[in-house]
Amino acid sequence: MLSYEVEKKVFSPHTLANILKLKSKGIIKYLEGVVKEGKESVVYSAKDFNDNFLAIKIYRVEHCDFKRMYNLLITDERIKNLKKSRYKIVAKWAEREFDNMKIAYDAGVSMAKPITFLNNVLVMEFLGIDGKPFPRLCDVKIDEEIARKLFEEIIDDVKKLLNKELIHGDLSIFNILFDGNKHYLIDFSHGVKKSNILWKSILKRDLENLVNYFKKYFEVDNNFLDKFFQEI
Ligand SMILES: Nc1ncnc2c1ncn2[C@@H]1O[C@H](COP(=O)(O)OP(=O)(O)OP(=O)(O)O)[C@@H](O)[C@H]1O
Ligand SMILES: [Mg+2]
Repeated sequence: MLSYEVEKKVFSPHTLANILKLKSKGIIKYLEGVVKEGKESVVYSAKDFNDNFLAIKIYRVEHCDFKRMYNLLITDERIKNLKKSRYKIVAKWAEREFDNMKIAYDAGVSMAKPITFLNNVLVMEFLGIDGKPFPRLCDVKIDEEIARKLFEEIIDDVKKLLNKELIHGDLSIFNILFDGNKHYLIDFSHGVKKSNILWKSILKRDLENLVNYFKKYFEVDNNFLDKFFQEI
């Protein structure tokens, strides 16, 4: 359990206020510890008031490339009147990730259930055991049989997203967790709608990442991408 003193050091006053608000709303009982510290966000494990684990993704406000976020957000036609304040940009970035997660979750994609967000803090179901996250696909060894099954299931998820006009936008073995049997897509922060002018190239990049990985395990049809684009 993190003490108030530790929280104070780790979090900006804004972030701490958001965590405390989520506590008082009955969503988070306490934060447990850091799961992964990234450049722009830190993911914590936490407990809810029923003692279930939660994953809390906290976007840094002081140390993040908010200009890059701004440039990506303004190309998203869902986002109107974005203010040029660092805090507002980061909060909008987290809100968009939450919105993307809700669309994806409702479409039946295999992923963490989104619970809520508050400014730069995103709360979701924890994917793992006892506060330890499932490994990423890049961290595990799989065999050909599993690879074929996974490829099919992940492509199915890409199609479910497309049915809702959404493209993951950062799909790679670094953003897929694997519990030994089932995969889970994570990190929807770069998700864009099909109305985005760049949607085709973003989708192509997602698919190429998958094909490049899975072709190490089995022969993926050379025309896979062409066929995929013809079908959708
Ligand atoms: N729902 C979750 N349950 C358990 N662990 C999670 C969950 N979401 C993320 N993680 C852990 O945190 C790590 C980082 O998550 P994520 O990929 O969303 O952040 P990031 O790459 O730092 O994000 P961004 O690219 O948006 O800055 C994951 O690799 C995983 O270990
Ligand atoms: Mg990631």
